[in-house]
This record gives sequence, structure tokens and C-alpha cells, in this order.
Amino acid sequence: MLLVARNVEKSFPSADGPVAVLRGIGLDLCAHETLALTGESGSGKSTLLHLIGGLDAPDAGSILVDGHDIANMGDKARAKMRRETVGVIFQQFNLIPSLNVSDNISFQARLAGRHDPAWDDTLITRMGLGAHVHKFPEQLSGGQQQRVAIARTLAARPALVLADEPTGNLDEQTADAVLDIMLQLVAETGAGLLMVTHSQRLAKRMGRRVHLRAGHVV
Ligand SMILES: Nc1ncnc2c1ncn2[C@@H]1O[C@H](COP(=O)(O)OP(=O)(O)O)[C@@H](O)[C@H]1O
Ligand SMILES: [Mg+2]
Repeated sequence: MLLVARNVEKSFPSADGPVAVLRGIGLDLCAHETLALTGESGSGKSTLLHLIGGLDAPDAGSILVDGHDIANMGDKARAKMRRETVGVIFQQFNLIPSLNVSDNISFQARLAGRHDPAWDDTLITRMGLGAHVHKFPEQLSGGQQQRVAIARTLAARPALVLADEPTGNLDEQTADAVLDIMLQLVAETGAGLLMVTHSQRLAKRMGRRVHLRAGHVV
């Protein structure tokens, strides 16, 4: 099992005291599996994704990624997991403005010690970015930036890909095209994919679906 989350709880402070966002989440995901995570705005989808990606720590529970509990490990081990095992694709792209497309794409793979120029070229071609490799993020459309962000994540060959509404900023037609390529490439790498989406239409394209409601996965 690639991902095993058990009894994951997370609260945030508010003026009226702590608000429990996640109240005991359980979630499993295998390699080669694609899972959609849906839920209303504010239901805690991004919070859960951040916990699984080791970007934040839960108040309770365990999150085994590739057999290692990312919820309960030291900063150094967590940073290593984030570099080498988990790849996160954000809705806001989060590209590095000072690097061109080519260098953005190889950035995480280099950090992971897994830079493979031939695989970069494959990703660039398949994502239709061949004419843009020397451009900087600000010179690209939203759809192009998102394809760079997806390529950057896949370039490092993470075992687990987490995507937070990766096509949420794109029009429907572009969103479908980007999701198509992403699903094909993820399948080729054998990674597991957990994708947050608002869209039932996109969720239906995934192998399995779970819904987040009132702090629980149903
Ligand atoms: N860092 C934070 N500090 C305080 N409250 C937060 C923080 N992150 C998220 N929240 C709150 O937790 C709830 C879930 O947020 P989020 O996970 O972003 O929901 P979703 O991604 O499903 O829209 C919201 O009420 C949000 O305001
Ligand atoms: Mg969110």
C-alpha cells in the first residue's frame, strides 16, 4: 500500500476556539491507483492534502507513505520524503519565476537526485511545451504554466502524486486536455494519484472517488 492514513485529525484556531476540520480520516491508496477527493469548499480537502504531503502535521493519527509515517517523523526525514517520494501539484502552479520552463521542470528532479534529461524531453514534448522551454513563467498562459507545474512534479518520478484542483484555473476544454495527459503520464510512471477536485465530471475520470464531509471521508 502506497498511502495508508488512519484517524487523522486536524483543528485550526479561531476567535471562537479551535475548529475541527478533519475528525478522524481514513484513506488508502495503492500504486497505479487514481483517487478523486471531492467535497464542498472549506471541507478540508487542501488541509488533508497538505498533511499527506508533509507540508503540515496533523494533531493526531498516522499517515504512512510508502511505509513511512510522514505525520510522525522529524523535519529532516520529512524533507527527504517531500523531495524523493511525494510530488504536489498546486492550483496556483507555484513555479519559480526566475527560472525558465526547462529549469523549472528539472528543478525537483535535481533535488531528488533523479534528473533524467531524456525523461524531461519526453514530458516537454507530451505536454506540448517544446516551443516554450526558454520562456519564463510570466510569459506563459495559465494552461501552459499548469502543464509546466505537472511536468516538474512528474520529472522527479514521485511514487505518490498529490494534485490540489490542478485544473481549477483552466477552462473546461483545457482542463480536460491537461487531465488527459496527466493521467496518461501518471499511469506510465506507475505512481498513485490523489486529486482534489470540485468537478464531478473530472472526478468520474478517476479510478475511485471519496467525498469529504463534516471532517470524515465518506
Ligand atoms: N492555516 C490555517 N489556519 C486557520 N484555518 C485554516 C487554515 N487552513 C485551513 N483553514 C480552515 O480549514 C477549513 C478547511 O480549509 P481547506 O482545507 O482549505 O478547505 P478546502 O480545500 O476543502 O476548500 C476552512 O474553514 C479554512 O478556513
Ligand atoms: Mg482547497
